[in-house]
Amino acid sequence: MSFIKSLLDEHLTSSDHLSKKHIHPRLSKLFDLAGLNVAFTRGAGSYLYDKDGNDYLDLLSGGGVHYIGRNHPEVNAALAEVASRELPNLCVVNASVLGGILAGQLLELAGPGFTKVQYSNSGAEANEVAIRFARFCTRKRRFLHMQGAFHGRTYGAISLCGFHQMNEGMDPKLPTCTMITPNDLRELRSELEKGDVAGVFYEYCQGMTLTVMDKEYLREMRRLCTEYGALMIGDEVQTGFGRMGQHWFAFQKAGVLPDMVTLSKTLSGGAVPIAATLVGEQLYDRVFSDFKSGPIYFSTFAENNLAMAAGLATLKVLRDVDARKTAHDLSQKLVRGLTEIQARYDVIERIAGEGLMLGVYFRASESRTILKLQQKLLANADPGVFGASVNVEMMAKHRVITQIPGPELNAVKILPSVNLDDRGVSRFLEAFEATMAKMYKGGGPALPLGKAAVKDAFRQAREKLLGPGTTAKKL
Ligand SMILES: Cc1ncc(COP(=O)(O)O)c(C=O)c1O
Repeated sequence: MSFIKSLLDEHLTSSDHLSKKHIHPRLSKLFDLAGLNVAFTRGAGSYLYDKDGNDYLDLLSGGGVHYIGRNHPEVNAALAEVASRELPNLCVVNASVLGGILAGQLLELAGPGFTKVQYSNSGAEANEVAIRFARFCTRKRRFLHMQGAFHGRTYGAISLCGFHQMNEGMDPKLPTCTMITPNDLRELRSELEKGDVAGVFYEYCQGMTLTVMDKEYLREMRRLCTEYGALMIGDEVQTGFGRMGQHWFAFQKAGVLPDMVTLSKTLSGGAVPIAATLVGEQLYDRVFSDFKSGPIYFSTFAENNLAMAAGLATLKVLRDVDARKTAHDLSQKLVRGLTEIQARYDVIERIAGEGLMLGVYFRASESRTILKLQQKLLANADPGVFGASVNVEMMAKHRVITQIPGPELNAVKILPSVNLDDRGVSRFLEAFEATMAKMYKGGGPALPLGKAAVKDAFRQAREKLLGPGTTAKKL
């Protein structure tokens, strides 16, 4: 028996596995409280399975990495092929064969305007590459980023984050980042006019808020960046590879050509860390202007054979399933279903997002007094509590995995795989409808969240009225 097999046999089905002890016990505790801590033993397509064979519809898809479904046979076969041969790998002194092939295919999908690929290992790192190249080329220092943005957790990337909650205790961040309001052209223009901006980072559809940039805004951003010598940087870590529908990349959908595009997540079929920053010829020439500038970027594990092979297999699958069209059609089905449900429940404020990055934003019910009271009370603990309770109920009662998009946002988000079938669509919509119905029939958000969260909300409500610490002893 192989060494890994015996370890898996011993530990895989344990709900109390060692990560609880050694990695993040508090997070595990949170999952436990919310009824989310299941020991998954298998993943295939859009489903995860526990040891008893129960299936869980996974609409979070590992934060978007499993866009072609979990454990796609084409990707697994590519990994096995690479692992079974004594290939040269990470030679450092030489180029990677598989890396070159994958880069060619990526550039073909991106179309004219992009001619070179810089590989790295995560979405954050791909954005760090863009920061570095932009500073080097423009010799300017400042970056503009959007309110509600998320670009990763490395030092530069987190400095571009549009949520103060995610930056607590991190100051000073990169001191040259200015947050601007998405789709506010006046603000964008007035910052760029100062002439000191190296680059503007945007997500076509924000992963955290599902805010979509207006196409006109992006086209004007392109024009202004060129006019004021700033680089336009599209973070397509989440939106890339057809997830927005109709096109391989969101910049194509918007009809703009950024100076750099960053990619990750989907690219290796969820199997191996991978990331890429696409650049055009002019930019490449400016970054790598002579032999000595070679080391301006290098990352030890980037271009490793497993990642490159998984990337090639993933692109093959995306083309085979015609991901652009499939994502578009699937998105329409989901939006249609959600819109029908919205008409029956006034807590649904709006359907947000685009393509296969969709969400539902909630508000206080006007038609159900008890529900409204619970919502108000729980919102004292966190404005996103209702969304969190929907999330918990979907998993606990329907085995449907959704996610809370961003801090304090009263919403649920789905990032389905492109091969989600009709059965999965119906299961999601039925579970969502049943969850809404339960909230309306008197259950309300307090039930799924459990006693601890409700107590905490009461405490915070009271403290708001009577001052801090007034209820601490009673609890
Ligand atoms: C738009 C976007 N950019 C960057 C990142 C960071 O990627 P990573 O976690 O691989 O560093 C994410 C991750 O969720 C993302 O959604």
